[in-house]
Formats: sequence, C-alpha cells, structure tokens
Amino acid sequence: MEKIVIQGGVPLTGEVQVSGAKNSSLPLLFATLLADGVSEICNVPNLRDISTAVKLLRELGADVSHHGDCIRVDARRIQSVEASYDLVKTMRASVLVLGPLLARCGHARVSLPGGCAIGARPINLHLKGFEALGARIQLDHGYVEATADRLRGAKIYLDMPTVGGTENLLMAAALAEGVTVLENAAREPEIVQLAEALNSMGAKIEGAGTAIIRIQGVERLQPLNCSVIPDRIEAGTFMIAAAITAGDLLVRGAVEEHQEALISKLVDAGVLIRPEADGLRVVGPEKLQPVDIRTSVFPGFPTDMQAQFMALMTKADGTSRISETVFENRFMHVCELQRMGADIQIDGHSAIIRGCTPLTGAPVMATDLRASASLILAALAAENTTEVSRIYHLDRGYEKIEKKLAALGARIWREQE
Ligand code: UD1
Repeated sequence: MEKIVIQGGVPLTGEVQVSGAKNSSLPLLFATLLADGVSEICNVPNLRDISTAVKLLRELGADVSHHGDCIRVDARRIQSVEASYDLVKTMRASVLVLGPLLARCGHARVSLPGGCAIGARPINLHLKGFEALGARIQLDHGYVEATADRLRGAKIYLDMPTVGGTENLLMAAALAEGVTVLENAAREPEIVQLAEALNSMGAKIEGAGTAIIRIQGVERLQPLNCSVIPDRIEAGTFMIAAAITAGDLLVRGAVEEHQEALISKLVDAGVLIRPEADGLRVVGPEKLQPVDIRTSVFPGFPTDMQAQFMALMTKADGTSRISETVFENRFMHVCELQRMGADIQIDGHSAIIRGCTPLTGAPVMATDLRASASLILAALAAENTTEVSRIYHLDRGYEKIEKKLAALGARIWREQE
C-alpha cells in the first residue's frame, strides 16, 4: 500500500497540463466494441480505471495495444459478452459495455454493480431504456442478462438525466433499427464527445448537449479514431489548488465552457480567473469569501467537484453551505477534513462549513476518488505534514498528481506505507 505525504503551506505557481478525461475515455473505449475493425483513441490518461477498461475489453476478446497515450482496440473477434463481478465492482463504468454488446452481438451479461461509497447508484434507467429498445432483460445470480435480435428505435424518457444511462443508450440506439429519441438526456461535455465520436463512425445523432437527443439507427459503424477532451474535473481540482494556496497557475487544457459553474463560484469567492490561449489562469486571493453551492447535473455545479470545493471553503472568511443533490452519501471526506481541524457540520444533504479555522496536518484516509482529491487540497493549505493513505482511489482518476503538484512547487511525494 502506498501513501502520499504533503508538507503544506507553499503557494503553487507555474503551468500544469490537464490530462485526457477519464469519464470520456471510458465510454469511448467501450464504443470501439460497436465496430468490426481497429479503432484508435488518443490522449487517453494513464489511470487505474483505464487499465480496468482495457482488461475488460481483452476479456471480451478484443486485442488492445498501447502506443504512447493512444490505445488501439481491435474489436474484430469478440468472443465473450460477459463483464464479471470482479471487474464491475472495481469500476462501475464497466456497465457501459451493455449497450455496445447488445447492439453488436445481441447479447450481454454484465454483473450488477451494487452500492458504492457515495450512494446506491442503481442502473434501472439504463435497463428500462434497453427494454424500450426491445431488449429482454433478466436478472440472474447478480448479473443482468440482456438479449435482443435487433434493437428497435423508441422514445425514451429518462426520469433523471443519468450520464451513464445516456451513454449506454446512445451506443445501443446507434445500431438500432429506426429512430430513438432520448428525452431528459444528460448534457455533460462527455456526452457531446461520445455523440461526436459515434457520428464520426457513421452514426446519425443530433442534439447531444441538449436534453433531447435524436438517433437515427444505422446498419453498421466504422472504427473510431479520436482524441479525448481534457479532464474538466482534474482541471477544476488544479484551479482549486491555485485558489487554496493563494497561488498563481496556468491550467493548460482547462476549457472555459466546461467550467462555467465552477468559475462563477470561484469568482464569487474572490479568485481571479482569466482565459488564456490554451487554458485558464487562476490566481488565489489572500482572503477567500464564503460561497454556497448546490451540486446538480451539467451545466450545474458538478458533484465531482463538491469535495474539493468544500476543502476550499474551510479557508474562507465566513460560513458557507454546500448541498449535494446528485448522490445521497457523498460527504465521506467531512470526517477526514474535521481531523485536519475543519469546522464542518452535516445537516441532511448539506454541509455547513465555518471557515478560517487553521488546518493542521494529520494522517487521513481516502474514501473515494474525489474525496481523496479534497484531502490533498486541504493538505496543500495545512500546516505541517499530512499523510493520505488508501490512495488507490486517487490513482483511479488523477494521472501523476503528486508529480504535477511537485512541479508547481508543492512539497509532496509518494511513499510505501
Ligand atoms: C457519472 C460519472 C461520475 C459522476 C456522475 C454524475 C462516469 C464514468 N462517471 O457517473 O464521475 O459523479 O456521472 O455527474 O462518467 N441513477 C439512477 N438510476 C440509473 C442511473 C442513475 O437512479 O439508472 C442515479 C444515481 O444513483 C445518481 C444519479 O442518478 O444518484 C446520477 O447518476 P449518473 O448520472 O448515472 O452517474 P454515473 O453515470 O454513474
């Protein structure tokens, strides 16, 4: 087991390059299953979740090779249609093979993911959508078994704009017979990239990025060649790193349109943000103002930035309220931040943060991916030394984070426990 050690108190300065988006890379890698050929995806980050996705593709029979930051997937010989519990429990996004396998092979058997650290996270809306497309769904020994001769287009209203559900249904409907209309679809940038990628393969998708997506099914798709968009959550995490250390960073690859909600809240907190040619410059103030946030679906404030923003608010000059509306149990970082001296109270789905209590280094434990990032951020602003253990969560979603932060002046390194 490894841990990350941080000696806080250094204002970060310089430039940092954002890696490709994990949450875009995963559906794109699985979309390669839709084509009977060799696809190539570039700017893929080197992360544990990507290795899990590659392992799953190989188990299905795809031939996968790495070429720098590009991954080549030869999906000509798919031999299995099963995603095992071992893989799905390591990475929930494995359920995104359901749509492509069902559309291409007419059959998929995927373990149900079960609950996770941040909430129940069912996939009922994915399954309801597949049924609307004509698939037969059965639950058997913890596995979802989906079968269909050929999917047929349908009108599907999503009770909530689920990101994974929208992606799974987009991929399935791309090869269905006739027209599918997804209503109340998710609008995240990762959805737009997936739709553009599918269109480049020959799909006919309109409206991605809005709540209504229309998909005219086609007979077959060509292999995919694309480059992954920058990771807006990694970019946002570095923006907060600048803000919390009163630093001055150029976050290269940060896309303004992907960050509107975060930018607006950081500006309210007193942070200076200026678009530059290939990224965003972020300058942290001496004194941060308290700001309330409420997470919601895109273009609202991302739940994946909630924990990091909470770390920032522990340094604000006053009281702020952070409300989580997307996941039911996403305050696991609160107890750990309290161990570092933060004054935070939970009130139902909200956390009330009384800022300006000095943070002091402590041994803390990462509980999930974004919670880990919030502990690293708090540690960068804390006195003395913090040790963050269970960092395998962090390695799921942040590429070389300690190296990137060290290059900006942070005193941070990785050690064996
Ligand atoms: C994706 C992101 C994750 C992010 C989340 C919300 C990936 C790989 N992961 O996760 O980082 O935190 O979006 O922005 O892209 N729900 C249902 N039934 C369903 C599907 C979802 O009730 O069938 C609920 C979930 O329990 C949750 C909410 O809808 O409360 C949002 O989930 P969803 O948008 O599906 O998130 P993911 O795709 O799992």
